[in-house]
Amino acid sequence: MEKLIIQGNHPLNGEIKISGAKNATLPILAASLLSEAPIQVSNIPHLQDVTTIVSLLGQIGVNITLDERTNIEINAKELCSFHAPYELVRTMRASILVLGPLLSRLGEAEVSLPGGCAIGTRPVDQHLKGLQAMGAEIQIEKGYIKAKAKRLRGASIVMDIVTVTGTENIMMAATLAKGQTIIHNAAREPEVTDLANFLNTLGAKIKGAGTSTIIIDGVDHLTGGSYHVLPDRIETGTYLAAAAITRGKIKLKNTRPDLLESVLLKLEEAGAFIDTGTDWVSLDMKGQRPRAVNVSTAPFPAFPTDMQAQMMALNTVAEGSGVITETVFENRFMHVQELQRMGANIALKGNTAICMGIDNLHGAPVMATDLRASASLVLAGLAAHGETTINRIYHIDRGYECIEEKLAQLGARIHRMPEGN
Ligand code: EPU
Repeated sequence: MEKLIIQGNHPLNGEIKISGAKNATLPILAASLLSEAPIQVSNIPHLQDVTTIVSLLGQIGVNITLDERTNIEINAKELCSFHAPYELVRTMRASILVLGPLLSRLGEAEVSLPGGCAIGTRPVDQHLKGLQAMGAEIQIEKGYIKAKAKRLRGASIVMDIVTVTGTENIMMAATLAKGQTIIHNAAREPEVTDLANFLNTLGAKIKGAGTSTIIIDGVDHLTGGSYHVLPDRIETGTYLAAAAITRGKIKLKNTRPDLLESVLLKLEEAGAFIDTGTDWVSLDMKGQRPRAVNVSTAPFPAFPTDMQAQMMALNTVAEGSGVITETVFENRFMHVQELQRMGANIALKGNTAICMGIDNLHGAPVMATDLRASASLVLAGLAAHGETTINRIYHIDRGYECIEEKLAQLGARIHRMPEGN
């Protein structure tokens, strides 16, 4: 398996471009199933998760052309299957995003239940409850969700908890339903809004995305169109935290700092000097050690769970102690034990991690366990004295485009060791 090798303790310095958002790209590609006309999408990140959804859509009969840059052409005119197999779904839970569109477009869908996950149990009951309220008949058989509906009809749906892909699945299904659907307690994440904007480009009638009440008036069909995916706010936050932990100075271009306020505020609290424009953000630590911060994760616009592990890495070498509370997923502290192997002083108590900052981490061999946990290990490796080897980096490749190239561009001493070495 490939590994990342990092020689740490060098401040990051320079400029890089941020890629398109993974968590907007995945639902947008799934939503292309709803239209029979050609669609072009740009700013697509080259990521393993994008490859997975492209293969899944290909198996369903969608014709997809990717160019070497970041553009994709999609034609979902002739679909040949309504089946999303276990082999693909188990490698990427977001495959559940084809459930709503397939059911709405074809009247039938068979999607494998995603199964367990490193960060929590992650049930999909809210997705199913919403579709059932719209008239779908749903059965779980042999590990598959089997859903049928002649034509979905609009409904008023109250989500019991805020769920990002749950909101997206119902919103997609509702675009072609008969009548009006109202989603109460909807997720407000910018990626939900981006999906709504994409669907509206194709002629959908969605209002209220970005608030907790989304209203969708069903239409008979969607048209084709072109769309540019929004920048990845979590990639942005991860590089900013990388600069903060190494006491560096960086500028990130092609991004949207307005989508990252809770993270920017915490980085400022940690001692960073932050400057922003409409499509860029810069961070300067002026060579100073960061200060530890307290963080509690919650749905947007609060602090994102997808930045929790990276803030934990920052706290490990910060001045003072910081308390991190994870409220979204029940098991998202897998990075703690790996950070401890690098010398971090972290005590875990339920969903809270108390971290006492130490002067220096030391390099060590560590193992990536999930996407954001691996990002925190990269950050720790960049700050640590000596060499850090990160194993199982396929997790990182799921969500960070060319991470070692971008970090090298910022002056990091990082390289990828090919398989077998
Ligand atoms: N939940 C339920 N029932 C449901 C759906 C969710 O109990 O039917 C629970 C989950 O178990 C969790 C909470 O609700 O405790 C929130 O989960 P949510 O459904 O919002 O997560 P998701 O839609 O599966 C997306 C992102 C995640 C991100 C979360 C939270 C995508 C493709 N994935 O997941 O991204 O952490 O929202 O913001 O959009 C990542 O990129 O590393 C990642 C994990």
